[in-house]
Amino acid sequence: MAHRFNNKVVVITGGTSGIGLATAKAFAAEGAAVFITGRRQQVLEAAVKQIGGRVTGVRADMSSLADIDRVYDAVQQQYAQIDVLFANAGGGDMLPLGAITEEQYQRTFDTNVKGTIFTVQKALPLLKDGASIVLTGSTAGASGTSAFSIYGASKAAVRNLARSWILDLKDRHIRVNVVSPGPTETIGLTDVFGGGEQAQGVKDFLATQIPAGRVGRPEEIATTVLFLASDDASFINGAELFVDGGLTQI
Ligand SMILES: NC(=O)c1ccc[n+]([C@@H]2O[C@H](COP(=O)([O-])OP(=O)(O)OC[C@H]3O[C@@H](n4cnc5c(N)ncnc54)[C@H](OP(=O)(O)O)[C@@H]3O)[C@@H](O)[C@H]2O)c1
Repeated sequence: MAHRFNNKVVVITGGTSGIGLATAKAFAAEGAAVFITGRRQQVLEAAVKQIGGRVTGVRADMSSLADIDRVYDAVQQQYAQIDVLFANAGGGDMLPLGAITEEQYQRTFDTNVKGTIFTVQKALPLLKDGASIVLTGSTAGASGTSAFSIYGASKAAVRNLARSWILDLKDRHIRVNVVSPGPTETIGLTDVFGGGEQAQGVKDFLATQIPAGRVGRPEEIATTVLFLASDDASFINGAELFVDGGLTQI
Protein backbone atom coordinates (compact mmCIF):
# COMPACT_ATOMS: atom_id res chain seq x y z
CA MET A 1 0.00 0.00 0.00
CA ALA A 2 1.29 3.44 -0.94
CA HIS A 3 1.66 5.90 1.92
CA ARG A 4 1.14 9.17 0.07
CA PHE A 5 -0.08 10.99 3.17
CA ASN A 6 2.49 10.11 5.83
CA ASN A 7 2.78 13.00 8.30
CA LYS A 8 -0.03 14.89 6.54
CA VAL A 9 -2.93 16.39 8.46
CA VAL A 10 -6.32 15.87 6.84
CA VAL A 11 -9.63 17.43 7.93
CA ILE A 12 -12.82 15.74 6.71
CA THR A 13 -16.19 17.30 7.49
CA GLY A 14 -19.08 14.88 7.61
CA GLY A 15 -16.57 12.11 8.21
CA THR A 16 -18.75 9.83 10.32
CA SER A 17 -20.76 8.12 7.59
CA GLY A 18 -20.87 7.26 3.89
CA ILE A 19 -18.43 9.04 1.61
CA GLY A 20 -16.69 10.98 4.38
CA LEU A 21 -16.12 7.88 6.51
CA ALA A 22 -14.75 5.87 3.57
CA THR A 23 -12.43 8.75 2.74
CA ALA A 24 -11.25 9.06 6.35
CA LYS A 25 -10.39 5.34 6.37
CA ALA A 26 -8.49 5.67 3.10
CA PHE A 27 -6.44 8.67 4.30
CA ALA A 28 -5.69 6.96 7.63
CA ALA A 29 -4.57 3.81 5.78
CA GLU A 30 -2.10 5.96 3.84
CA GLY A 31 -0.51 7.41 6.96
CA ALA A 32 -2.44 10.65 7.54
CA ALA A 33 -3.52 12.12 10.85
CA VAL A 34 -7.25 12.61 10.31
CA PHE A 35 -9.85 14.90 11.89
CA ILE A 36 -13.51 14.08 11.29
CA THR A 37 -16.65 15.99 12.15
CA GLY A 38 -20.33 15.13 12.49
CA ARG A 39 -23.24 16.35 14.58
CA ARG A 40 -24.10 13.11 16.41
CA GLN A 41 -21.73 12.23 19.25
CA GLN A 42 -22.38 8.47 19.29
CA VAL A 43 -22.00 8.13 15.54
CA LEU A 44 -18.83 10.19 15.79
CA GLU A 45 -17.36 7.92 18.47
CA ALA A 46 -18.24 4.79 16.48
CA ALA A 47 -16.57 6.24 13.38
CA VAL A 48 -13.41 7.11 15.29
CA LYS A 49 -13.20 3.48 16.46
CA GLN A 50 -13.73 2.16 12.93
CA ILE A 51 -11.12 4.39 11.32
CA GLY A 52 -8.36 3.65 13.84
CA GLY A 53 -4.87 5.13 13.57
CA ARG A 54 -4.31 8.79 14.32
CA VAL A 55 -7.88 10.04 14.18
CA THR A 56 -9.63 12.76 16.15
CA GLY A 57 -13.39 13.27 16.20
CA VAL A 58 -14.83 16.72 16.85
CA ARG A 59 -18.59 17.00 17.23
CA ALA A 60 -19.60 19.97 15.13
CA ASP A 61 -22.43 21.28 13.00
CA MET A 62 -20.62 22.80 10.02
CA SER A 63 -23.42 25.32 9.49
CA SER A 64 -22.44 26.89 12.82
CA LEU A 65 -19.49 29.27 12.72
CA ALA A 66 -18.80 28.68 16.42
CA ASP A 67 -18.62 24.93 15.83
CA ILE A 68 -16.24 25.40 12.90
CA ASP A 69 -13.99 27.42 15.22
CA ARG A 70 -13.94 24.51 17.68
CA VAL A 71 -12.85 22.12 14.92
CA TYR A 72 -9.91 24.31 14.00
CA ASP A 73 -9.04 24.96 17.64
CA ALA A 74 -8.62 21.19 18.00
CA VAL A 75 -6.38 21.05 14.91
CA GLN A 76 -4.38 24.05 16.16
CA GLN A 77 -3.76 22.38 19.50
CA GLN A 78 -2.57 19.06 18.04
CA TYR A 79 -0.77 19.87 14.78
CA ALA A 80 -1.22 23.59 13.98
CA GLN A 81 -1.43 22.82 10.25
CA ILE A 82 -3.70 21.33 7.59
CA ASP A 83 -2.41 19.66 4.42
CA VAL A 84 -5.74 18.45 3.03
CA LEU A 85 -9.26 19.77 3.65
CA PHE A 86 -12.19 17.69 2.42
CA ALA A 87 -15.32 19.86 2.84
CA ASN A 88 -17.86 17.09 2.49
CA ALA A 89 -20.60 17.61 5.10
CA GLY A 90 -23.89 18.00 3.32
CA GLY A 91 -27.19 16.55 2.35
CA GLY A 92 -30.62 17.30 1.02
CA ASP A 93 -34.16 16.13 0.61
CA MET A 94 -36.77 16.06 -2.10
CA LEU A 95 -39.60 18.58 -2.48
CA PRO A 96 -41.00 19.62 -5.86
CA LEU A 97 -41.48 23.24 -6.86
CA GLY A 98 -44.75 24.25 -5.22
CA ALA A 99 -43.90 22.44 -1.99
CA ILE A 100 -40.47 23.99 -1.27
CA THR A 101 -40.33 25.49 2.23
CA GLU A 102 -38.19 28.22 3.73
CA GLU A 103 -37.04 25.67 6.31
CA GLN A 104 -35.83 23.26 3.61
CA TYR A 105 -34.04 26.06 1.79
CA GLN A 106 -32.30 27.26 4.95
CA ARG A 107 -31.31 23.80 6.17
CA THR A 108 -29.89 22.83 2.78
CA PHE A 109 -28.05 26.05 2.03
CA ASP A 110 -26.83 26.47 5.61
CA THR A 111 -24.97 23.17 5.52
CA ASN A 112 -24.07 22.79 1.86
CA VAL A 113 -23.21 26.38 0.95
CA LYS A 114 -22.67 28.48 4.09
CA GLY A 115 -20.99 25.50 5.76
CA THR A 116 -18.64 24.94 2.83
CA ILE A 117 -17.74 28.63 2.62
CA PHE A 118 -16.82 29.01 6.27
CA THR A 119 -15.25 25.57 6.54
CA VAL A 120 -12.76 26.72 3.92
CA GLN A 121 -12.39 30.35 4.99
CA LYS A 122 -11.77 29.53 8.63
CA ALA A 123 -9.19 26.89 7.64
CA LEU A 124 -7.03 29.42 5.80
CA PRO A 125 -4.71 30.30 8.71
CA LEU A 126 -3.97 26.59 9.25
CA LEU A 127 -3.75 25.48 5.63
CA LYS A 128 -0.17 25.12 4.48
CA ASP A 129 0.89 26.84 1.28
CA GLY A 130 0.56 24.17 -1.41
CA ALA A 131 -2.29 22.45 0.44
CA SER A 132 -5.19 20.80 -1.33
CA ILE A 133 -8.91 21.45 -0.82
CA VAL A 134 -11.57 19.09 -2.15
CA LEU A 135 -15.25 20.07 -2.03
CA THR A 136 -18.11 17.58 -2.41
CA GLY A 137 -20.41 18.59 -5.22
CA SER A 138 -22.96 16.32 -6.89
CA THR A 139 -24.17 15.28 -10.31
CA ALA A 140 -27.37 17.03 -9.20
CA GLY A 141 -25.47 20.32 -9.41
CA ALA A 142 -24.86 19.86 -13.12
CA SER A 143 -28.20 18.53 -14.36
CA GLY A 144 -31.85 18.60 -13.37
CA THR A 145 -33.50 16.16 -11.01
CA SER A 146 -37.21 16.13 -10.32
CA ALA A 147 -38.07 17.51 -6.84
CA PHE A 148 -34.39 18.06 -6.04
CA SER A 149 -33.90 21.66 -7.16
CA ILE A 150 -32.83 23.14 -3.83
CA TYR A 151 -30.17 20.50 -3.28
CA GLY A 152 -29.03 20.78 -6.92
CA ALA A 153 -28.78 24.57 -6.67
CA SER A 154 -26.73 24.30 -3.47
CA LYS A 155 -24.29 21.91 -5.15
CA ALA A 156 -24.07 24.14 -8.24
CA ALA A 157 -23.03 26.90 -5.84
CA VAL A 158 -20.37 24.67 -4.30
CA ARG A 159 -19.00 23.86 -7.74
CA ASN A 160 -18.74 27.54 -8.63
CA LEU A 161 -17.03 28.55 -5.39
CA ALA A 162 -14.03 26.50 -6.49
CA ARG A 163 -13.68 28.53 -9.69
CA SER A 164 -13.18 31.82 -7.85
CA TRP A 165 -11.26 30.42 -4.91
CA ILE A 166 -8.43 29.16 -7.13
CA LEU A 167 -7.84 32.81 -7.98
CA ASP A 168 -8.13 33.99 -4.38
CA LEU A 169 -5.63 31.29 -3.33
CA LYS A 170 -3.30 31.63 -6.30
CA ASP A 171 -0.39 33.14 -4.36
CA ARG A 172 -0.52 30.35 -1.79
CA HIS A 173 -0.51 27.57 -4.42
CA ILE A 174 -3.50 25.96 -2.76
CA ARG A 175 -5.48 23.82 -5.20
CA VAL A 176 -9.27 23.57 -4.97
CA ASN A 177 -11.19 20.83 -6.77
CA VAL A 178 -14.70 19.41 -6.66
CA VAL A 179 -15.56 15.73 -6.53
CA SER A 180 -19.10 15.18 -7.79
CA PRO A 181 -20.51 11.75 -6.98
CA GLY A 182 -23.42 10.22 -8.77
CA PRO A 183 -25.84 8.11 -6.74
CA THR A 184 -23.64 6.39 -4.18
CA GLU A 185 -24.67 3.67 -1.71
CA THR A 186 -24.84 5.57 1.61
CA ILE A 187 -27.32 6.12 4.41
CA GLY A 188 -27.68 9.66 3.10
CA LEU A 189 -28.90 8.40 -0.29
CA THR A 190 -31.23 5.85 1.29
CA ASP A 191 -32.77 8.61 3.44
CA VAL A 192 -33.28 10.90 0.43
CA PHE A 193 -35.38 8.17 -1.17
CA GLY A 194 -37.50 7.51 1.92
CA GLY A 195 -35.59 4.53 3.35
CA GLY A 196 -36.12 0.76 3.20
CA GLU A 197 -37.72 -1.01 0.25
CA GLN A 198 -38.90 2.21 -1.33
CA ALA A 199 -35.33 3.52 -1.46
CA GLN A 200 -34.06 0.21 -2.83
CA GLY A 201 -36.58 0.45 -5.66
CA VAL A 202 -35.37 3.93 -6.60
CA LYS A 203 -31.72 2.81 -6.43
CA ASP A 204 -32.46 -0.20 -8.65
CA PHE A 205 -34.12 2.10 -11.17
CA LEU A 206 -31.20 4.57 -11.04
CA ALA A 207 -28.78 1.72 -11.72
CA THR A 208 -30.55 1.12 -15.04
CA GLN A 209 -30.00 4.79 -15.99
CA ILE A 210 -26.27 4.79 -15.26
CA PRO A 211 -23.98 3.65 -18.11
CA ALA A 212 -21.91 1.63 -15.60
CA GLY A 213 -25.11 -0.26 -14.68
CA ARG A 214 -24.97 0.32 -10.93
CA VAL A 215 -24.79 2.98 -8.23
CA GLY A 216 -21.40 3.88 -6.78
CA ARG A 217 -19.63 2.76 -3.64
CA PRO A 218 -18.30 5.28 -1.09
CA GLU A 219 -14.83 3.77 -1.51
CA GLU A 220 -14.89 4.79 -5.19
CA ILE A 221 -15.44 8.42 -4.21
CA ALA A 222 -12.73 8.11 -1.55
CA THR A 223 -10.04 6.96 -4.01
CA THR A 224 -10.88 9.96 -6.20
CA VAL A 225 -10.58 12.38 -3.27
CA LEU A 226 -7.18 10.93 -2.38
CA PHE A 227 -6.07 11.31 -5.99
CA LEU A 228 -7.21 14.97 -6.12
CA ALA A 229 -5.51 15.66 -2.80
CA SER A 230 -2.26 13.98 -3.80
CA ASP A 231 0.75 15.21 -5.78
CA ASP A 232 -0.47 12.99 -8.64
CA ALA A 233 -3.04 15.73 -9.26
CA SER A 234 -0.55 18.60 -8.89
CA PHE A 235 -1.75 20.41 -12.07
CA ILE A 236 -5.46 19.80 -11.54
CA ASN A 237 -7.06 22.94 -10.15
CA GLY A 238 -10.62 24.25 -10.18
CA ALA A 239 -11.82 21.06 -11.82
CA GLU A 240 -14.97 19.08 -11.20
CA LEU A 241 -14.42 15.34 -11.35
CA PHE A 242 -17.59 13.31 -11.80
CA VAL A 243 -17.54 9.91 -10.16
CA ASP A 244 -20.87 8.73 -11.49
CA GLY A 245 -20.46 5.75 -13.80
CA GLY A 246 -21.03 8.10 -16.74
CA LEU A 247 -24.42 9.45 -15.66
CA THR A 248 -23.67 13.13 -16.25
CA GLN A 249 -22.22 12.55 -19.74
CA ILE A 250 -25.37 11.16 -21.38
N1 LIG B 1 -24.60 9.46 -1.58
C1 LIG B 1 -24.83 10.06 -2.73
O1 LIG B 1 -25.48 9.51 -3.62
C2 LIG B 1 -24.26 11.43 -2.99
C3 LIG B 1 -24.24 11.89 -4.31
C4 LIG B 1 -23.72 13.17 -4.56
C5 LIG B 1 -23.24 13.94 -3.53
N2 LIG B 1 -23.29 13.47 -2.25
C6 LIG B 1 -22.75 14.34 -1.19
O2 LIG B 1 -21.78 13.61 -0.48
C7 LIG B 1 -21.65 14.14 0.84
C8 LIG B 1 -21.72 12.99 1.84
O3 LIG B 1 -22.97 12.37 1.72
P1 LIG B 1 -23.21 10.81 2.05
O4 LIG B 1 -24.01 10.27 0.95
O5 LIG B 1 -21.93 10.18 2.44
O6 LIG B 1 -24.22 10.96 3.29
P2 LIG B 1 -24.24 10.38 4.77
O7 LIG B 1 -23.89 8.94 4.76
O8 LIG B 1 -25.55 10.80 5.30
O9 LIG B 1 -23.08 11.19 5.47
C9 LIG B 1 -23.20 12.57 5.71
C10 LIG B 1 -22.16 12.98 6.71
O10 LIG B 1 -22.20 14.38 6.90
C11 LIG B 1 -22.47 14.66 8.26
N3 LIG B 1 -23.22 15.91 8.28
C12 LIG B 1 -24.39 16.21 7.67
N4 LIG B 1 -24.73 17.48 7.93
C13 LIG B 1 -23.76 17.98 8.72
C14 LIG B 1 -23.54 19.24 9.33
N5 LIG B 1 -24.41 20.25 9.20
N6 LIG B 1 -22.44 19.40 10.08
C15 LIG B 1 -21.56 18.39 10.25
N7 LIG B 1 -21.71 17.19 9.69
C16 LIG B 1 -22.81 17.00 8.94
C17 LIG B 1 -23.19 13.43 8.78
O11 LIG B 1 -23.12 13.26 10.19
P3 LIG B 1 -24.27 13.85 11.16
O12 LIG B 1 -25.58 13.56 10.52
O13 LIG B 1 -24.07 13.15 12.47
O14 LIG B 1 -23.97 15.30 11.25
C18 LIG B 1 -22.37 12.36 8.08
O15 LIG B 1 -21.11 12.20 8.69
C19 LIG B 1 -22.76 15.17 0.98
O16 LIG B 1 -22.24 16.47 0.73
C20 LIG B 1 -23.73 14.79 -0.13
O17 LIG B 1 -24.52 15.86 -0.54
C21 LIG B 1 -23.78 12.23 -1.95
